[in-house]
Amino acid sequence: MSEYGSFFGWLIIGGLVLTLMNYPVKWIYRKWISGMDRESGFRRAYLVFQKLIVRYHRFFAAFATLMLIIHLAIQLQYRWLSVTGLIAAILMAANGFLGGYGHYIRKKKPSAWLYVHRSIAVLAVLAVIFHIAMRGR
Ligand code: HEM
Ligand code: HEM
Repeated sequence: MSEYGSFFGWLIIGGLVLTLMNYPVKWIYRKWISGMDRESGFRRAYLVFQKLIVRYHRFFAAFATLMLIIHLAIQLQYRWLSVTGLIAAILMAANGFLGGYGHYIRKKKPSAWLYVHRSIAVLAVLAVIFHIAMRGR
């Protein structure tokens, strides 16, 4: 059972990558795709892809959080309480609430919440890298 712990750890990262795609996908759109011919098939396909990434952002985050809960439960039972993992988990959970606030209460209008949301995302990624570099300690 304990080897499943690492597996769920990698599933959290899979969900996190999909969640974080929000930023680079929009960045690439602004930088390169928006200038393309409106009739371009590639531009249209890209917009469909971007819409999916943005629309399902909160569900990718929810998937990552669900995997986090399973990873946490398995590691607590068969391994130990990881301090680095706990830091990563707190950052992710905080960002989930902040994202919910921005989405449902601020109606997705960018303001301070979005800058904080992005910054916590960067901190969470750093914490996850640290957690893996420390081999789960
Ligand atoms: C965002 C949160 C987290 C992510 C993305 C994550 C991811 C991972 C990954 C990918 C591994 C496997 C590393 C490898 O294959 O060498 C791992 C190991 C581990 N994680 Fe997490 N983790 C997170 C949170 C936590 C939390 C909250 C705990 C608290 C119990 C925890 C406890 C552990 C432990 C004990 C290991 C080492 C298991 C072993 O070596 O047998 N993790 N984590
Ligand atoms: C693990 C949790 C999460 C991470 C790491 C994360 C990360 C990010 C990042 C990096 C951006 C910036 C994209 C940009 O600049 O446009 C963003 C935007 C946004 N996030 Fe999150 N997010 C998380 C969870 C959530 C949740 C749960 C919700 C909603 C319930 C949410 C709602 C939003 C909204 C509304 C935006 C503004 C842009 C848009 O509409 O896509 N986020 N998020």
